[in-house]
Amino acid sequence: MRKPLIIANWKMNPPTVKEAVLLAHGIERGASRYRNVEVIVAPPFHFLMSLGRVLKRVHLGAQDSAWAEAGPYTGEVSWLQLQSIGVRHVIVGHSERRLHMGETDDMIQKKVDALLRHGMTPIVCIGERMRIGNDIPAVVGDQLKTALNGIARRVVKNLVVAYEPIWAISTVPGARPDTPDNAFRTKVYIQKILTGLYGRAAAQAVRIIYGGSVRSENAAPFLKEGKMDGALVGGASLDSGEFIRIIHASSTIA
Ligand code: PGA
Repeated sequence: MRKPLIIANWKMNPPTVKEAVLLAHGIERGASRYRNVEVIVAPPFHFLMSLGRVLKRVHLGAQDSAWAEAGPYTGEVSWLQLQSIGVRHVIVGHSERRLHMGETDDMIQKKVDALLRHGMTPIVCIGERMRIGNDIPAVVGDQLKTALNGIARRVVKNLVVAYEPIWAISTVPGARPDTPDNAFRTKVYIQKILTGLYGRAAAQAVRIIYGGSVRSENAAPFLKEGKMDGALVGGASLDSGEFIRIIHASSTIA
């Protein structure tokens, strides 16, 4: 199995830079003990510089990026600006951005394209709002295919796909984690689409991770039985102790 990829998505937390630095210190200290796990922390933009001074072993990630490198985009931060402070990994198309900020599949495609063309790693989030029965909803495949529209085979190996069913995100009322078994079936479905687009070798290089109510007690089952290449962790990444336990659990099956 390849090195598990564990990503902290802090969303719009914590409230102050002081708390962000403290949390990052805790994660850096704990994560340094696990060489066989790749760890990324994606804080809000304005904490990136401060966290860059704290995180050494842990990589710095961003929660979004503009597709343009510079220009008249008030309120946006470009991939080039992120690159200039050492960010290589960027979450793209999170369901909260699709929902609250009106991000469309086309906008997400432009971001994925810009990031991949400039040697960065987009972590593209896809996932359905509801699941009825056992079938994998078509929207999962549709979101993926649109995000990859026009993306060349030679750059696709840097892509990470985060399968994140919206109903499983801890802040959604009634949320519950998906099962490792369902996550695995969805991974196979995603791989099949990638294979159709890029061939087997390129598809195998793409990492597919799971997100949605990941905790220390279910992280290992998602990686082991679910065969996911890692996890995107929201709520549980705001507690350094719990986040380290997730890293620990992932290291045991790596
Ligand atoms: P959660 O969030 O771990 O709190 O469910 C995951 C995410 O939205 O990325």
